[in-house]
Amino acid sequence: MSLARLTYVSDSNKLIEWSLVKEILEVAQPKNQRLGVSGILLSHGMNFLQRLEGEQQIIEELYQSILNDSRHTNLRLLEVTPISHRQFGQWSMQGFEFEQLSTDHQTHILDRYFYDKRAFYIPTDDQTCLNLIDDLKLS
Ligand SMILES: Cc1cc2nc3c(=O)[nH]c(=O)nc-3n(C[C@H](O)[C@H](O)[C@H](O)COP(=O)(O)O)c2cc1C
Repeated sequence: MSLARLTYVSDSNKLIEWSLVKEILEVAQPKNQRLGVSGILLSHGMNFLQRLEGEQQIIEELYQSILNDSRHTNLRLLEVTPISHRQFGQWSMQGFEFEQLSTDHQTHILDRYFYDKRAFYIPTDDQTCLNLIDDLKLS
């Protein structure tokens, strides 16, 4: 078994409401649990940023099905990397909203990663996205 993680960013054609994220998670969580997949799904404005962790072949297959989902487009694969342990192992798929973080943590994330705090976009350069997701230490 080779453990890996896969991270991508994608676009929605409208502002993403939390109800859409919940709808996705209702299907994703039991399916990921069955597949031994964990991860995080961050939505902000018109972007999704998602990390999948699990057996490499399984997450690559799952990515193919996510890729064909009409609820988002323009998926940019940021990385597929072998890992020795999971970052989000306790979650089959954790939906993430900034409001879930403490005010201090929100300020830290905004200052570090969102150059324009009013913009409804996740930073587009790959390394910033990867750093951001690494920094989401949910308690
Ligand atoms: C942004 C986004 C993230 C998604 N993440 C997952 C996921 O982590 N796991 C999952 O099973 N489905 C996820 N889905 C839903 C899949 O695209 C697909 O609808 C779901 O896996 C059901 O596929 P099936 O009917 O072929 O089993 C996601 C969809 C979107 C738009």
